Amino acid sequence: MSQALRDARRYEEEKAGLIPDGARPGFHLSARTGWMNDPNGFGRYGGKYHLFYQYHPYDSHWGPMHWGHAVSGDLLHWEYLPAALAPDMPFDHDGCFSGSALELPDGRHMLMYTGVSREMGPDGALRHVQTQNLAFGDGMDYEKYPGNPVIAAADLPEGGSRYDFRDPRIWREADGSFRALVANDLPGQGGRMLLYRSDDGLRWRFAGVLAENRGRLGRMWECPDFFELDGKYVLLGSAQDMLPRGFEYHNGNGTFYLLGDYDPQTGRFDEESDHAADYGIDFYAPQTILTPDGRRVMIGWMQNWDTCNLHTPSTPWFGQMSLPRELFLRNGVLYQRPVRELDALRRDEVVHRNVVIENDEIALPGVSGRMVDMEIDIAPAGGDYGRFAVRFAKNVDYHTTVSFRPHESVLKIDRKFSGSRRAIIHQRRAKVNHDNGRLKLRLILDRFSAEVFVNDGEKVMSATLYTDLAADGIAFFADGRVSIDVRKYALAP
Ligand code: FRU
Repeated sequence: MSQALRDARRYEEEKAGLIPDGARPGFHLSARTGWMNDPNGFGRYGGKYHLFYQYHPYDSHWGPMHWGHAVSGDLLHWEYLPAALAPDMPFDHDGCFSGSALELPDGRHMLMYTGVSREMGPDGALRHVQTQNLAFGDGMDYEKYPGNPVIAAADLPEGGSRYDFRDPRIWREADGSFRALVANDLPGQGGRMLLYRSDDGLRWRFAGVLAENRGRLGRMWECPDFFELDGKYVLLGSAQDMLPRGFEYHNGNGTFYLLGDYDPQTGRFDEESDHAADYGIDFYAPQTILTPDGRRVMIGWMQNWDTCNLHTPSTPWFGQMSLPRELFLRNGVLYQRPVRELDALRRDEVVHRNVVIENDEIALPGVSGRMVDMEIDIAPAGGDYGRFAVRFAKNVDYHTTVSFRPHESVLKIDRKFSGSRRAIIHQRRAKVNHDNGRLKLRLILDRFSAEVFVNDGEKVMSATLYTDLAADGIAFFADGRVSIDVRKYALAP
């Protein structure tokens, strides 16, 4: 083991012990200590779920990337394992960037990740180049492959940038051969996803361009994931520097999915449509797995690159994952629901039916908390109404709001009053389907986040909030006359 990895493991062991459980999310994975971004190597190994993550243990800001590591039996209770990778080789000296994992038939755990290193250009200037590298391990300790890098600039098709070439997503086809999808920039055109194939997982060759940006969705694409779902194929990607398209995409970094058909023989993907993967503020770089019982489950980094300053700089951890979400296709869009394992965390059911609110804000007995699973069925109560809102993480000073305006079909999440002292994005809006003002919401709170599942998962809005935990009130507001049914559980991890 390198000195760099040994140091990281010693440091995290020491520092993580200083963060009390109550100071981090209860059932969302957060950085063991320091900084976390993208989920990496999400998958099954040795009968457990493994989730690695982009990790800078030494600071709550991004820095030389390591891979943090955690395991879980149910995707909600996570146990930290020692950091898996540190930047300690010539090919990853400046960072072990995102990647993915596979369990091999011989029992080894194979990781493929992006190594970042410096290279002297023809003009004499040093620049970061990115290559794809392997490591093999036993679910705890990993050895980097002596033949690294296994995919490098020489394997790029015409015009591809060696500086933006990262985040390999690996899988095996039915015949046992390997595939990797790697994000790459084609300068001037933006991101594209490159397909590579290999018979042994070690020697790789370029097999085609699976999808390309052609200037439509932001600039560089990152973090591909690719899978079959309900008879279609889904290509997940995260785009930098996006422009909004109506309410579909927003400015800055955002996550999208392309739906289409794929022929594994030819490696050809016929794209049919593109959509946003989350309509809230904080969601990026998701990865998926297939659970042993056949569910496709997605986890993203519940953060946005442009809003990382939301957290107070003195906090010893930064970055959390989203809830694991079961995916399925319905009416040509990706539906997302919290994994059903969450049901086992539900305690103390509180039900209120046919509560009529008229131009008022009310609280309901038994409805409060910061670790909450709450379903709200909203309906007009005679005539129409102008706005419905639920406010949470609330006390006299603070609240965060999810509000719905039926005339505009717009649902908004707003954390302006969450206690943030930064001039960053605090609101986001999404168009939602409703039936004459009838709308269904499921709100999951976990201390420092809110995830809103609309109409049984048709759309999701995710946002982090770092409001003082003493603000645990929940209130319901109506402009006009609204009737709501509320079913609320406390969540106890
Ligand atoms: C996405 C990303 C990846 C990269 C990693 C570096 O959030 O930029 O493309 O591998 O973060 O930490």
